[in-house]
Amino acid sequence: MNYVLVIDSGVGGVSILKELRKKFPSENFLYVLDNKFCPYGNKPKILLRKHIHKLICSFLQMYNIKLIVLACNTLTATTISYLRKKFKLNFVGTEPPIRKADKDEKTLLIATKQTIKNSKLLKKYKGNKKVKFVALKKVAKLLDENFYDRKKIIKSLEKQIKQKNFQNVVLGCTHYYFLKKEIEEVLGHRVNFFSATSGVVKRCENYLTSKNEKSGTIQICLTKSDQNLKKTVENILQN
Ligand code: DGL
Repeated sequence: MNYVLVIDSGVGGVSILKELRKKFPSENFLYVLDNKFCPYGNKPKILLRKHIHKLICSFLQMYNIKLIVLACNTLTATTISYLRKKFKLNFVGTEPPIRKADKDEKTLLIATKQTIKNSKLLKKYKGNKKVKFVALKKVAKLLDENFYDRKKIIKSLEKQIKQKNFQNVVLGCTHYYFLKKEIEEVLGHRVNFFSATSGVVKRCENYLTSKNEKSGTIQICLTKSDQNLKKTVENILQN
């Protein structure tokens, strides 16, 4: 059996996994929820590269992998070019969809510190007065720990997002896909959201089949046992 390996530090990448399963129902997915190493967003690039290299090697020993989807902006920004050199495998990454929001409106781009620091795409927008970059601390991990109780997350967003006058919000971290309501609450008004999900699914079309003839499988692999988190992932996939 051939597998599609989908990797993130927590629940964020499940937003992508869910759409991948809809589009490619006969594929077999392994979702690596790397909670042991979460959060990725504040760790140095060198450390992330070493870690993810090891993690991928361990899955290659156990499974035939036909595609690796980095369902994580931080991993993509810090490791994808390195991984493409190290492995003779196909990789699809996740990048903040800032091009889509590149119009006249004021845009807020939220992502982790390492994504803002390392993304080649984002570098092109530094100095652009229409786009404000905010590196959010702790929000991804807070979401993994409190998926069904958002009070702490709202408090954290309120502290970190000071300016409010944006029309567009680019979600530069897959975890933030689940926080659209909270982001609007903190900004105090409705905004246009831009998420990377559809772009990632589109790029996977080059490698996967959308034929609906047999039903594929999903396995959730946490790198540290956590029944609550596993349940959360299962709930997200069911609803
Ligand atoms: N979901 C990941 C991303 O898209 C990062 C979360 C983390 O900091 O671990 O960047």
